[in-house]
Amino acid sequence: MDSALPHFLTSAPADLAQAAALLREGECVALPTETVYGLAADALNEKALAQIFTIKGRPLLDPLIVHVLDLAALAEVAEPDARLAKISHLWPGPLTVVLRRKPCIPNLVTAGKATVAIRLPAHPLFREVLRLTGRPLAAPSANPFGYVSPTQASHVRDSLAERCPWIVDGGDCEHGLESTILDLSTPGRARLLRPGPLTIELLRTLLGDVEVVTRASSHQFAQDAPGMLERHYSPATKVVLFAPGTTPEVEDDAAVVFIKRRPTSPLGAEVFNFSETGSVAEAAHHLFALLRQLDQRHYTSIHVELAEAVGLGLAYNDRLTRAAAR
Ligand code: TXA
Ligand code: MG
Repeated sequence: MDSALPHFLTSAPADLAQAAALLREGECVALPTETVYGLAADALNEKALAQIFTIKGRPLLDPLIVHVLDLAALAEVAEPDARLAKISHLWPGPLTVVLRRKPCIPNLVTAGKATVAIRLPAHPLFREVLRLTGRPLAAPSANPFGYVSPTQASHVRDSLAERCPWIVDGGDCEHGLESTILDLSTPGRARLLRPGPLTIELLRTLLGDVEVVTRASSHQFAQDAPGMLERHYSPATKVVLFAPGTTPEVEDDAAVVFIKRRPTSPLGAEVFNFSETGSVAEAAHHLFALLRQLDQRHYTSIHVELAEAVGLGLAYNDRLTRAAAR
């Protein structure tokens, strides 16, 4: 076995050209986005797509997000919806929209559904690779199925190792939480399938009514968003959540994570703080990296403070709730 695997590529033009060449040849390459790292493959190449599922240990019923450079490229793989005019200024950015698919998209991408999820990512390295590849790129988060998403190149290496031989290192991901997923595939209905960095409040300002689809609100949920299993983003160590502004009672050798630094600490625990100011954006940016770190340290449990349930707090709490689900 090649002990040098995985190979890290940089932002150097020759490295990005190599990443694009590998993708055109049907290889998978992990790429940074402004949300989390993605495991990319040519969205029109079935063999390349099959590798994504193998590398991640992902069930085939879980459809993939297709990343494109611009609206012209979107129109080649999905049916544009008139409502896109109201939100397309949010692109490139952390927004994924589910639309009716075009026939060129393989069933492996959509899990056989009539819809396809599309995103125009903002990360300059991802965009450059899209430009050089000249192909739509399917990319799920670059983690083993069910584990915490990667926000640094080293996270991809640590959890996928030589199964993912190529990683473009773009440093820390800006948002640290996966994109917002908005379903516009049904005329007259806009539905939020996954809260993310673009908030429901903003989407409602632009689109009017947006339904929030959750397990509790829909029996359809498993069908509509097959990847959004309750237990997802889970570290091996037990994660316990506590209400914003409260202090939990914890057992010895537990870790306690506050969003905003507190003047006093709970007894017997090791304490971590995301932010001096209580910024949820800062907490979100660091959340997955800290969960990974703490998961290596054999605490009895990891207690994490929830955010107020508005704005980015909804996405932050969503990921934490999944991390805590057993
Ligand atoms: O920020 C992100 O969205 C990252 C970066 C890499 O782009 N990607 C990501 O992909 O989080 P993934 O595969 O980990 O999560 C995508 C979610 C899955 O839960 C999947 O079920 C859902 O999107 N999805 C994909 N296609 C869909 C479709 N046609 N209808 C409904 N849900 C879909
Ligand atoms: Mg994922």
